[in-house]
Amino acid sequence: MNISIILAAGEGTRMKSNTPKVLHKICGKPILEYVIDASKLANVEKNYVIVGHGGETVKNNFKDKDVIFLTQPMGDEYPYGTGYAVMQAIDYIEDDENAIILYGDTPLISSKTIEELLKFHKKNQYKGTVLTAIVEDPTGYGRIIRDEKGEILKIVEHKDATDKELNIKEINSGIYCFSGKNLKEALKEIDNDNAQGEYYITDVIPILKAKGENVGIYLIDNPDEIHGINSRVQLAFCEKIMRERINQKYMEEGITIINPENTYIELGAKIGRDSIIYPGTIITKDTIIGEECIIGENCRIENSKIGNKVHIYSSTITESTVDDNCNIGPYAHLRPNSHLGKNIKIGNFVEVKNSTIGDNSKAGHLAYIGDADVGKNVNIGCGVVFVNYNGREKFRSTVEDNTFIGSNANLVAPVVVREWGYVAAGSTITDEVKEGNLSIARARQINKEGWVDKKGYRTKE
Ligand code: UD1
Ligand code: CA
Repeated sequence: MNISIILAAGEGTRMKSNTPKVLHKICGKPILEYVIDASKLANVEKNYVIVGHGGETVKNNFKDKDVIFLTQPMGDEYPYGTGYAVMQAIDYIEDDENAIILYGDTPLISSKTIEELLKFHKKNQYKGTVLTAIVEDPTGYGRIIRDEKGEILKIVEHKDATDKELNIKEINSGIYCFSGKNLKEALKEIDNDNAQGEYYITDVIPILKAKGENVGIYLIDNPDEIHGINSRVQLAFCEKIMRERINQKYMEEGITIINPENTYIELGAKIGRDSIIYPGTIITKDTIIGEECIIGENCRIENSKIGNKVHIYSSTITESTVDDNCNIGPYAHLRPNSHLGKNIKIGNFVEVKNSTIGDNSKAGHLAYIGDADVGKNVNIGCGVVFVNYNGREKFRSTVEDNTFIGSNANLVAPVVVREWGYVAAGSTITDEVKEGNLSIARARQINKEGWVDKKGYRTKE
């Protein structure tokens, strides 16, 4: 069996945050979750997460995730370091298991790399395998010290390194594969006799070597995968790489993304072929978008279901559904629980909330449709307000099929407009509009002849 031990107990002081570091998100998902998901995808059956600082918050966040949390005691009276973190899992590791060590703050690690590390470790019958990379700037990382045959001797931390060792560009990723029995034995021998006074997991390597065990190096080509996050700058860096990866995946699936650098799609969103996403658009992970849609520029589509051939411009849609061939925006807002049928037009500055709208209806400009059931073929004029709130309670309105609501009308809920009803512009409707009636609810116009001249308000010159 394969297990992982994911280290996530560190404080992350450089984030300067009230939120535990591993709960910070990139592309809408906590960084620790990427690591857990990659491990699971690589067929690692059991995943242990070592938490410490902010541990309760982290655990609560992943209640539904199938992982086992172990708590590393924190405080001046306790030891510290990656080695001590791994020790928290010592009683859980079986002799014949392979244990992958991962970091909760290294979200770009791919399942493919984890799988290959495992394969490499098994094939060569190593007892320990270190994942390494060659980087331009190795500052801060542990350096890989090899012997003349190219085999690993040890890992030296930046703070413990000599000037000569500091020149080495091959670094320790912090990711390893160990054979269970050997890891447990070696963990019992590590100490904290080093520049930081910490228990280093890296010390396991020379301990295994001293016992005559085979230890390997798995050097990866692309160091992007092992980027850790210690600061907000690194958070943005990893976000950028993750965004590139995600957008590339969608493009490969047949979606056009006009400018992938400023298009924000969360992994999990489903988008149909031949849809085109314009810049500045955000699509959250629980959203489903059909085929041949045009989304953007500047849309936010959150937890919503959009049909085929829907065009949405500069608009926000939250927890709503939109059926085929609708045309929305610019500057429309569908708030939660709005359900649009087919072929509907929701135009400039129209807000819809907790309402259903039937096929072929239109609200082209400046309207508020709240708590309403609107039928098919309804025309909602410019400036129509569904008056749904009296300051204490909300009420629903019903507007049946084939009705016409004139511009600037108020429908004071609860109220019903029956089929083929016609509301005159500027009316304030408080009573039922009967089937096929025209309802006018506004004061009649009075014309006062010659009034302007008589008052002398404005002279003709
Ligand atoms: C570690 C490695 C270094 C490697 C680098 C890669 C050691 C001694 N050094 O250094 O060789 O190049 O990672 O990024 O292992 N953690 C705990 N409990 C602890 C201490 C740390 O869970 O007591 C967790 C942290 O939350 C973090 C990870 O372990 O996720 C790494 O810890 P960190 O302090 O960042 O290690 P580095 O000093 O960067
Ligand atoms: Ca680190």
